[in-house]
Amino acid sequence: MSKLALLGGEPLKKTPFPAWPVYDEHERQALNQVLESRVWWRTPGTQTLAFEQEFAAYHQAKFGVAVTNGTAALEVALSALEIGPGDEVIVPDFTFVATASAVLFTGALPVLVDVTPDTFCIDPAQVEAAITPRTKAIIAVHMGGHPADLDALRELAHRYGLYLIEDSSHAHGAEWKGHKIGAIGDIGTFSFQSSKLMTAGEGGMILTNSPELERKARSVHDCGRMPGEWFYAHFIYGSNYRLSEWQGAVLRQQLKRLDEQAAVRSRNAAFLDRELPKIEGITPQKLDPRATRHGYYAYIFHVDRRAFAGISTERFIAAFNAEGIPTQASYPPLHELDVFKSGAYRKRLGEPHARAEHPFLRSGFPNTLKAAWETVWLPNPVMLGSEEEMEIVVEAIRKIQRFAEELRQ
Ligand SMILES: Cc1ncc(COP(=O)(O)O)c(C=O)c1O
Repeated sequence: MSKLALLGGEPLKKTPFPAWPVYDEHERQALNQVLESRVWWRTPGTQTLAFEQEFAAYHQAKFGVAVTNGTAALEVALSALEIGPGDEVIVPDFTFVATASAVLFTGALPVLVDVTPDTFCIDPAQVEAAITPRTKAIIAVHMGGHPADLDALRELAHRYGLYLIEDSSHAHGAEWKGHKIGAIGDIGTFSFQSSKLMTAGEGGMILTNSPELERKARSVHDCGRMPGEWFYAHFIYGSNYRLSEWQGAVLRQQLKRLDEQAAVRSRNAAFLDRELPKIEGITPQKLDPRATRHGYYAYIFHVDRRAFAGISTERFIAAFNAEGIPTQASYPPLHELDVFKSGAYRKRLGEPHARAEHPFLRSGFPNTLKAAWETVWLPNPVMLGSEEEMEIVVEAIRKIQRFAEELRQ
């Protein structure tokens, strides 16, 4: 019998990593308070309003607008920027589909570009090459919690007169050169879906320093209403994207835990950053020195199969999971998704995009391919583990390497 758990051996880790989401009496009391107040609806409520203010202040932003989820946050942000049919928005090929589908929702064309080979965040050089007279905005995704190159992207946005949107769904509390991400660009979006660094099961947030964008985003998220006006007066296009009081109350408590959890994740990540490069073929996501705080929604590392007897990433992950180390899937490249390959995305587009060729869909995207198919992701709760647990993570990779030949057979 092999020593590898996947082939019938003993797993290295037999106890679970920390449970997620984390909650205690604070969440329970907050929910009870909403229950007993009988104010469950955001409009007259106090919880979601207070959460918007607290989350914005924490991220050094002037304004926050809470919405139903991170996809909605992108849709509302793009609508507030008045992006629509005929416009182009530059988006990384390596991200969750929502970054691009929100652009399609507005009728604009998401123009996909490659990421950098080491941070896996949108590559500013590729962004510049993709700018056309129709480009209105760039969406930077802080991948896995690592801030995108906000210096270069801001400079480009400024030089070409474009909006910079930060999709910060992975990066609550992350920092770029000592400043919290989210409102370094014109507008930023967050998700509070259950795998995220703070959660109410679902939820989202928009941050901005612009009073004008805040006013528009708030109106779009509330059926086109304007603050102070009659309830049944609707001034611009809008929909109902309001977050409930239950979620606002839970998220206020979750925010209070973020710094303490972030410190544990950062400490564990520093340990893995030291230990993993000692294993041939393992390269952690690069930490740009300007990224003074990484969110660590996931700890991402690249596996060079040549150092593992040529086995696939899928096989590596199966062996890793069998040793008791959970992982979460990397994203497939957007350009390989059916919605793009089949042409279905065209149904959302205005002219001239609906009938035009989109040559970017035939690009090579070599760095996205690498990030999509050759990386392994340790989920955020794993990063809340103890140092002993991090040692087991390292040991599991060494074990796979030692017995890689058996995995190939
Ligand atoms: C990068 C990114 N953008 C947007 C979203 C959308 O967030 P949600 O699932 O809350 O709609 C997610 C997460 O799910 C994400 O990972």
